[in-house]
Amino acid sequence: MRGVSFNELQGKNFLHHIFIAKEEYMHNQTSEINLIDAFERIPVQIFPTIKEGSAHAAQQIASLIKQKEQAGEKCVLGLATGSTPKTLYAELVRMHKQEALSFKNVITFNLDEYYPIDNDAFQSYNAFMQRHLFKHIDIDPANIHIPDGQLTKEEIKTHALAYERMIEETGGIDLQILGIGNNGHIGFNEPGSSIYSKTRLINLENSTRLANAYEFANISEVPRLAITMGISVILKAKKIILLAWGPSKAPVVQKAVEGNVTESVPASLLQQHNDCSFIIDEAAAAVLTRFKSPLLTGEINWSPKMIKKAVVNMALKLEKPVLSLTNNDYTDFGLGDLLFDE
Ligand code: F6R
Repeated sequence: MRGVSFNELQGKNFLHHIFIAKEEYMHNQTSEINLIDAFERIPVQIFPTIKEGSAHAAQQIASLIKQKEQAGEKCVLGLATGSTPKTLYAELVRMHKQEALSFKNVITFNLDEYYPIDNDAFQSYNAFMQRHLFKHIDIDPANIHIPDGQLTKEEIKTHALAYERMIEETGGIDLQILGIGNNGHIGFNEPGSSIYSKTRLINLENSTRLANAYEFANISEVPRLAITMGISVILKAKKIILLAWGPSKAPVVQKAVEGNVTESVPASLLQQHNDCSFIIDEAAAAVLTRFKSPLLTGEINWSPKMIKKAVVNMALKLEKPVLSLTNNDYTDFGLGDLLFDE
């Protein structure tokens, strides 16, 4: 079941939507229920490697660019920086060079930039985007938008408003690519950022500065502030794809996908979007319930050996003799099936 979208929440018909959501829910109760969906509140696609996941995301971007081109429309992409999208950008560059994928029709808006920073500094996200994507493709420089880290503080408010206005004037972001911080941030919307937040200057958490320190000579050089697109702006994108790779992202991916919607894990707010999916590798998926406790989500073909293993495992975990296990223990452990089999 999909949640009520953010745009819908903003509208006047909130109660109506709750009713629709309830109807949908009741319908799903009677039709076939996908047990993985019962835990995962955002669709997740899992790939064996970063390369395969990135290639899949690149394919989606390429199809959208071509589809928009055929319709005679511009394709508006929201882009991220950091280590996560590097392989995706390499694949897009390859597609441009080997498969003639053209970016002439593309307009881009980046999520964020450190503040203050010289736009030409190696660590700036302006320079990052040139290095990893823009200088290798045929995008019109006039179509590239990245927050400006060189403005005075007084100028930022006007800059942020103009940035959002420009997005709206293009007709809005068709596809937003996101990474995820270990603390759940999206863009640089750190925990506590409101679902209604706008593009603005934000204080970076120390954990974020530490995670990004590898790009700088030492942690003291990592800027303490950044300009970031607000969460309300991200949620207005027509489609969102979040990428996450490696074991360090596994706990936060689980919280964002399976946890409650909370501003203390900003990526969990994506559950409110009606076309958001996660593309992740196996390492980043490791603590999703479907892998950590597969008995809770999978359809198991119970062999006598598996029954023995599952029951002994449950008894050990509960520190109870097998014969003292109750019906509740079986159901709490996701082994309710066994109570009904002979
Ligand atoms: C960067 C951005 C951030 C990163 C996040 C993960 O534009 O929006 O949210 O996506 O900090 O960073 P990496 O990819 O370096 O792990």
